[in-house]
Amino acid sequence: SSTKLLIKGGIVVNAHEMEAADVYVEGGIIVSVRPNIKVGDDATVLDATGKFVMPGGIDPHTHLGMEFMGTETIDDFFSGQAAALAGGTTMHIDFVLPVNGSLLSGLEAYEKKSRESCMDYGFHMAITKWDEHTSKEMEIMVKKKGINSFKFFMAYKGSFMVNDELLLEGFKKCKSLGALAMVHAENGDAVCEGQRRMIELGITGPEGHALSRPPVLEGEATARAIRLAGFVNTPLYVVHVMSIDAMEEISKARKSGQKVIGETVLSGLVLNDSWLWDPDFITAAKYVMSPPIRVVGHDKALQAALSMGVLQLVGTDHCTFNSTQKALGIDDFRKIPNGVNGIEERMHLVWNTMVESGQISVTDYVRLTSTECARLFNIYPRKGAIRAGSDADIIILNPNSSFEINAKSHHSRTDTNVYEGWKGKGKVEVTISGGRVVWENDELKVVPSSGKYIEMPPFGYLFNGIDKADAKYLSSMKAPVKRSRATV
Ligand code: URP
Ligand code: ZN
Ligand code: ZN
Ligand code: ZN
Repeated sequence: SSTKLLIKGGIVVNAHEMEAADVYVEGGIIVSVRPNIKVGDDATVLDATGKFVMPGGIDPHTHLGMEFMGTETIDDFFSGQAAALAGGTTMHIDFVLPVNGSLLSGLEAYEKKSRESCMDYGFHMAITKWDEHTSKEMEIMVKKKGINSFKFFMAYKGSFMVNDELLLEGFKKCKSLGALAMVHAENGDAVCEGQRRMIELGITGPEGHALSRPPVLEGEATARAIRLAGFVNTPLYVVHVMSIDAMEEISKARKSGQKVIGETVLSGLVLNDSWLWDPDFITAAKYVMSPPIRVVGHDKALQAALSMGVLQLVGTDHCTFNSTQKALGIDDFRKIPNGVNGIEERMHLVWNTMVESGQISVTDYVRLTSTECARLFNIYPRKGAIRAGSDADIIILNPNSSFEINAKSHHSRTDTNVYEGWKGKGKVEVTISGGRVVWENDELKVVPSSGKYIEMPPFGYLFNGIDKADAKYLSSMKAPVKRSRATV
């Protein structure tokens, strides 16, 4: 688009600095950032006086249009992205699932699902089995398809779960391709044992979900994945860190110098498990996700870890099912489709919980919601920055106006909201996607098929120095001990 936009009088915030400046946008790209920009009257002017002008949010973890647990998420790419834009998120990275074991078929399916996208998006890929073919397809994904991260599920026994052997093969392959290995860290065998215990006790309701997979199972899997990634010497990204147990393993590894990244999830960061005990089935079931939302205390500890840099970014794991779908598990919590909403709420709730509360600065906010994700997946500074040459994905946030969350007014297709009734200060008043104003005056003006697929190149910054570490490891090995046959 050749739309010309001038954002006047705001405070421009990047991950490391903020300054009073105007932002001029043309053809979907930021052209200049400096005070007192003058333009012709063919440009649309947005007044940002008293407000923050920031890079649009990047959600590193979503599931739109995903077939899962016998059903399909109620938000497809278009509805999920529209919701995202209404909440100030302008890019997301979704997880492609293989189809009949083929990564390429999986990607084709997701290319179809995402065709009508109204904002930019990228893909991670899940690896659920292992053979020569998978290995070759991973190579194609990285070298030709713009995917630089692969997720391994250590849970969901019987469908996605991988064993340690596959984890090691996968980690080795990721390393050789410069791709980031990601894990869903829960011990899937132990989860099955936990579920058996619950059913034996007659606990079939949603609370059984949380009780069957306690933090220790997340801590164990996190520790195991970290140690195996360390053994292979490849960077590791732990998705949806929900517990102190997992967080402490990440903290320990990072202190020792290992390249481990921890992603918090909005739900785990700001909620606790109390609703799971609600006598109304749907009220409880809407909170069911994996790993489960934990008992109060884990939320506060995860916030502290995020503010101190022990954990590095916030995803949503947006994976919505409506009440009818959640009711598939009315007699058995094991059949409740796992997943909660969040793509529309993340920017508001991170502001409210972390900045308003004084735990992080405004520049930290930009880093945690946008810049860090762009850097990790190797698309910075095209994304994650307000500077000349970057994509014009921009939000205007008013720290003095208020937002309110409820299922009646949200833009997701789901009929419930796990953040129902949450009110707070710090509202995203304007969202600009690819240089277009798509959210203003509480109105969405999204354009189908305006979103671009963002290719993410391999060998991001986490791979710096990996070769040196390998060389050091090899040189520390002694030569084989020479033994004469006679001594046998
Ligand atoms: O409950 C969840 N998290 N559903 C989405 C799939 C996953 O494990 O990320
Ligand atoms: Zn997961
Ligand atoms: Zn997920
Ligand atoms: Zn609306």
